Amino acid sequence: MTDRPVLVVAGARPNFVKVAPILAELDRRHVANLLVHTGQHYEAAMSERIFADLGMREPDVNLEVGSAPHAVQTARIMEAFEPVLEAADPSWVVVVGDVNSTMACALVAAKTPASVAHVEAGLRSGDRAMPEEINRIVTDRVSDLLLAPSDDAVRNLEAEGADPNSIVLVGNVMVDSLLANLDRARALGTPEQLGLRPGGFGLLTLHRPSNVDDPRHLGELLEAVVATAGELPIVYPAHPRVRQALAGLAVPATIRVIEPVGYLEAIGLQAGARLVLTDSGGLQEESTVLGVPCLTLRTSTERPVTISEGTNELVGVDPAAISAAVARVLREPPPPRRPALWDGHAAVRVVEALLERR
Ligand code: UD1
Repeated sequence: MTDRPVLVVAGARPNFVKVAPILAELDRRHVANLLVHTGQHYEAAMSERIFADLGMREPDVNLEVGSAPHAVQTARIMEAFEPVLEAADPSWVVVVGDVNSTMACALVAAKTPASVAHVEAGLRSGDRAMPEEINRIVTDRVSDLLLAPSDDAVRNLEAEGADPNSIVLVGNVMVDSLLANLDRARALGTPEQLGLRPGGFGLLTLHRPSNVDDPRHLGELLEAVVATAGELPIVYPAHPRVRQALAGLAVPATIRVIEPVGYLEAIGLQAGARLVLTDSGGLQEESTVLGVPCLTLRTSTERPVTISEGTNELVGVDPAAISAAVARVLREPPPPRRPALWDGHAAVRVVEALLERR
């Protein structure tokens, strides 16, 4: 055993949900650890509030990099992270997910004595036009330990020639957070507070640049969603990057745009929804575990297990296909199923894998 700490990196909203159970498990086992927040997400609604909902301690270090174009943001994270990493001298650097912070910190750490573990390794959409796909590929290539959430991810890594000894199937840490917080989330009564009847509304989240950066395209998607949903109210908590596009749009009357919600509210809304419509990776997974039908408005998914073993359907972005899928799912919801090892104990397996190799 070594006294060198485990350094955990988080930068953007979905990262916080993934690191929370890992930090809790490290603490439970009295393993020295440090949490570095890159500051990629910085608004209270995108960061502090999620930390509070998850009961997380404040980050030990915040690099405060903020928003910038991809190369600039990535470079700023790398530049700010290097001295922090040198000072901390960790045994492991744990990065999660597929955001710019994940790749930037993995790249820096790979050239130091620290070993790099990637949680959520092996997911592939096959679409290199997605910045996240580049982040996934690069992060996996430089990581020493590839902690995969599902069998398909393991197969992707094997097919790319990763060392089989570096791959461990651990399950899904986001599900750990979901199951640990579901009762608290339900108790908040978020749908009711918004005047929505549980089981009587749709939840919409769109934030991918390819869906929201062109207001005309976003407008078509919104029209398609309501075309066959009848009077079903749809609630849309809008990510900050969507604000501008929405400002110039005539949003259909049954869609209610609200500010970004906290983690518990997001879970409460999903658990109460009749249908989830999304382009988010996390919601595809969470809706599967909650057994709520999910339509993914993208042309690819890096989470095919939510289709083969869950409630998700990849419908693309063609308006006619979206309208048809909405009508079909309201008529015939898919049966609930859950992928193997999405059981609330993934963080235990993550920490065991780290300690075995320390
Ligand atoms: C990032 C991730 C994406 C993830 C998403 C979750 C990358 C490449 N993308 O996308 O995979 O699904 O987080 O939310 O890492 N902004 C604010 N306040 C904030 C943060 C962002 O206003 O606290 C606005 C800024 O205008 C910024 C824009 O959102 O330019 C985009 O932020 P950024 O972190 O670059 O990407 P996301 O779209 O959030």
